Amino acid sequence: MNNKITYLGHSTFKITTSQGKIILIDPWILSNPACPEECKKFDKLDLMLITHAHFDHMADAVSLAKEYYPHVVCIFEIALWLQGKQVGKTHDMNKGGSLVIDGIKITMVHADHSSAIVDGETVLYGGEPVGYVIQLEDGFKFYHSGDTNVFGDMKIIGELYKPELAMIPIGDLYNMSPLEAGYAVKLIGSKKIIPMHYGTFPALSGTPEELKKYTADIVGLEIIALKPGESY
Ligand code: NI
Ligand code: MN
Repeated sequence: MNNKITYLGHSTFKITTSQGKIILIDPWILSNPACPEECKKFDKLDLMLITHAHFDHMADAVSLAKEYYPHVVCIFEIALWLQGKQVGKTHDMNKGGSLVIDGIKITMVHADHSSAIVDGETVLYGGEPVGYVIQLEDGFKFYHSGDTNVFGDMKIIGELYKPELAMIPIGDLYNMSPLEAGYAVKLIGSKKIIPMHYGTFPALSGTPEELKKYTADIVGLEIIALKPGESY
C-alpha cells in the first residue's frame, strides 16, 4: 500500500500512510464549504496536526479529538487551550523541534502569518502560526506550509529537509497569491506542489493555472491541483 494524500478542501488534508495510519492536517471539516459530504466522517484518526488557530484551520479540532481520540500536535499555546477543553493526547511543541509518533516524524517550522484563538466572545493569544515537515513511516517527506506569505527561510526548509512534495497556499488576500507562491516554489525546491487555500470563497481568487504561469521555467515541476475529495 502506498501513501495517499486526500484533499478535503481549503487547507485540510487527510493522509493515509502505507502503514494504515490516518493523519488529518488542519481540522476544518463540518463548516468547510469546500469539504465534500462523504469526506466528513472518518473510520479513525490517529494523528491531527494544527498549523494555527484561525477557524478555517481548527474549527473542528475539539469535536474531532473527542470523537476519534487522535494524537494532537500543535504549538504550545494552542495545546494549552485544547487541554482546557478536555482534549487528551496533546503534544505541544515549537518551531525547530521534532517529535516522532508511531513512526511518523513531525518537525514544526516557521510560517509568516498571524494566529489567535476565538473562544466565544474572547480573543486569546494563539502562539505563532507554523508549518510542518512530515516524514512518513516509509521515508516519504512532505511540507505543509500552513497559511503563510513567502519568506526567505523557505530556502532553509528546502535545503535542510528536502521535502519531495509541498502544499502551499495560493488564494491571495490572507495568504500568498500565485506570484508569491511561485517564488516560494523556487525557494522550497520540491518538484511536486499541491496548491491549497484557494476557491473556498470568491475572495480567495488565486488559481493553479496562474501558479503554473509563474513557475513555467522550473524543469520537472509538477503542480498537482486536487479537487476537494480527490487523492494523490
Ligand atoms: Ni489563517
Ligand atoms: Mn486560513
